[in-house]
Amino acid sequence: MTKPRVFVTRILPDRGLQKVLAQTDATVWQEELPPPRAVLLDWARQADGLLTLLTDKIDAELLDAAPHLKVVANFAVGFDNFDVPAATQRRVLMTNTPGVLTDTTADLAFTLLMACARRIVEGHTYAKNGHWRTWGPMLLMGQDIHGATLGVAGIGRIGLAMARRARGFGMRILYHDAFRSEVAEQELGAVAVSKAELLAQSDFVSLHVPLTPETYHYIDAAALRTMKPNAILINTARGPVVDTLALYEALKAQQIFAAGLDVTDPEPLPAEHPLYTLDNALVVPHIASASFETRSRMAEMAADNLLAGLAGQLPPNCLNPEALR
Ligand code: GLV
Repeated sequence: MTKPRVFVTRILPDRGLQKVLAQTDATVWQEELPPPRAVLLDWARQADGLLTLLTDKIDAELLDAAPHLKVVANFAVGFDNFDVPAATQRRVLMTNTPGVLTDTTADLAFTLLMACARRIVEGHTYAKNGHWRTWGPMLLMGQDIHGATLGVAGIGRIGLAMARRARGFGMRILYHDAFRSEVAEQELGAVAVSKAELLAQSDFVSLHVPLTPETYHYIDAAALRTMKPNAILINTARGPVVDTLALYEALKAQQIFAAGLDVTDPEPLPAEHPLYTLDNALVVPHIASASFETRSRMAEMAADNLLAGLAGQLPPNCLNPEALR
């Protein structure tokens, strides 16, 4: 029996990649940068399955070029790179990797929160550059974390995990979402508030909303103007949820205290971007789920989703079960 034809758009951790290689006729893109669109389209023409990253756009044009395609498995929980309705129309299954990266992502969000509050990178740079001459009474003063208020925008899996960490640090928790979270309220004493209240009252605002037309520039100049001067913004969601230019202006004018960003718009954020000139902007290159264990589990999950879809079964993490042929 011929094995299904599969394209994997980047080298992944072995735990998932070996499964795919063992059970399919797979080609793996070997380079660091994503395959160019023309390569992806060419692959799509031949593929029964694709294992993609969030940098690979899977839209109607690509799906129309792919007569044999049964399943596209994303190596990510976010899937704003997918046109799910277009795939459903064409009976192509789409999957993601929810759950396994929740705690690892929340760990990074909390790391950014602490690093910004206590000016960790600034302190390291200061010491390393030879500026540390004595103990300074007012040297690198930051914000307290304990007793402060965390505002969680989007109390899904990762937002809730972030709130749990905050609770452990004795923080008060506010959240804003379209839905009430009984767990957050009962377990953590979190209080549901409007977006305006969240922004006005929080010392830390952490973003955990998916990128949709409604959440594009969720934090814009007007939103930033309503935040506290000591406020710290954390974004581990998606870059375009924040208006980058407005954030730059707000940080430069010290209208808010700092921002910690795992995601940016554009992404990657080019080295010459003005945000890097600011001491109160901390940027890391979209690494929230990047622990050895979590990335291995994500690879395995994406492989299992892909293989199930290829076998005509419902993948464990299917975004559009109604597309099952
Ligand atoms: C990473 O951003 C993901 O969505 O998994």
